[in-house]
Amino acid sequence: MRRLFLRGRILSFLSEPKAPDDHASYRYEEDGAILLEGGRILAAGAYDDIAHQAGEGVDVVDHRPNLILPGFIDAHVHVPQMQVIASYGAELLDWLNTYTFPEEAKFHDTQHGRRIARLFLDEIVRHGTTTVAAYCSVHKESADAFFVEALERNMRVIAGKVMMDRNAPDGVLDTPQSSYDDTKALIAAWHGKGRLHYAITPRFAITSSPEQMDVASALAREHPDLHIQTHLSENAAEIAVAQELYPSALDYTNIYEKYGLLGPKSLLGHCIHLSEREVDAMSETQSVAVFCPTSNLFLGSGLFDYHRYKRREKPLRVACATDVGGGTNYSMLRTMDEGYKVVALQGEKLNPLASFWQITRGNAEALSLVDHVGTLEPGTDADIVVLDAKATPGMALRMERVGTLAEELFLLQTLGDDRAVREVYVAGRAVKNEGKAGG
Ligand code: GUN
Ligand code: ZN
Repeated sequence: MRRLFLRGRILSFLSEPKAPDDHASYRYEEDGAILLEGGRILAAGAYDDIAHQAGEGVDVVDHRPNLILPGFIDAHVHVPQMQVIASYGAELLDWLNTYTFPEEAKFHDTQHGRRIARLFLDEIVRHGTTTVAAYCSVHKESADAFFVEALERNMRVIAGKVMMDRNAPDGVLDTPQSSYDDTKALIAAWHGKGRLHYAITPRFAITSSPEQMDVASALAREHPDLHIQTHLSENAAEIAVAQELYPSALDYTNIYEKYGLLGPKSLLGHCIHLSEREVDAMSETQSVAVFCPTSNLFLGSGLFDYHRYKRREKPLRVACATDVGGGTNYSMLRTMDEGYKVVALQGEKLNPLASFWQITRGNAEALSLVDHVGTLEPGTDADIVVLDAKATPGMALRMERVGTLAEELFLLQTLGDDRAVREVYVAGRAVKNEGKAGG
């Protein structure tokens, strides 16, 4: 089997960085190397330590002076919303009804689903993202299309068809029974195949009847190893409607809690307006709150209190995500730039080492995938991103004043986008520059 040997400045994280000078939290090799074989990382470290392991006939790619990190992970994104991004002038519920549901209705068509799945995976990879937790549309066909494309590229993805049986147009509704049957069929067809993971995906409490929530609950009991993904506490109108629809629940979080949908593999998008009781329920069940800064700003939903959740006695598990198409960019660099500003508006700072930890190892831990991705550890998947902090003239000029690694990362986060992503490896294969894009 052919081996690939990458040389460059290598950065990976060991633990969550507490400050910009928390040098113990990461591993950095100024002259580093990674050896890949069969889609896995064989070794990573100082060039001098790795070079002798490479052997004869290895393919060498010299990425110096660029940085090499684990591929980025996006913990919440909607595949069928590629043509919803940049829809003007609405808050969440209007935005869903006016733009999103009509667009998602088109995904009953397998051809359309295949085309968008292809373009979606091309687009995330161009931006350095190698793993996503993705929502497909309500149609089984859209999830089939996404898994077909992800499998063909041998990507590690989590995805599911949304379950939604009310409060939306007919073209995007299923029924409790059909959502059960379709989800079961999708799990049987895709979960565990290649690097694919299925997520049970009730869209949110507003679009699922109590009967469908019972179905989601049954699916969760029948498949305790699967992820569950949904939305929680994004804006005021949504919270009010959810509580009206489930009057016996203590609060919005309690709706999911009562149906047994909280737990270590539960990913709850947004979590902006949670009471202390709700945060306690999240932390006791080890559920994950997913911070989606570009979406929260774009839809005017509110400010996620990153430090309130992380600094409490029993911290919440937190992931970060684009939430495209409520979110406005595929880039996890742009996402963390906006995340920094959301945190700054609340009088706090998100340090740049923590940002890069979050979109690599941090999100891998939050998605329970850290044994596979996010670390560059030997034996893990060879999903890798190569970053150039001098990618534009403006970045190159600013780099003249940069003296530390933390400053370089902050520059990449603040000014960087897909142009800073020089190469991306998915399962050891260079994919950014191979020209896969097309209609
Ligand atoms: N809540 C329910 N569905 C959605 C969605 O598609 N996007 C966002 N941002 N929030 C939601
Ligand atoms: Zn979402």
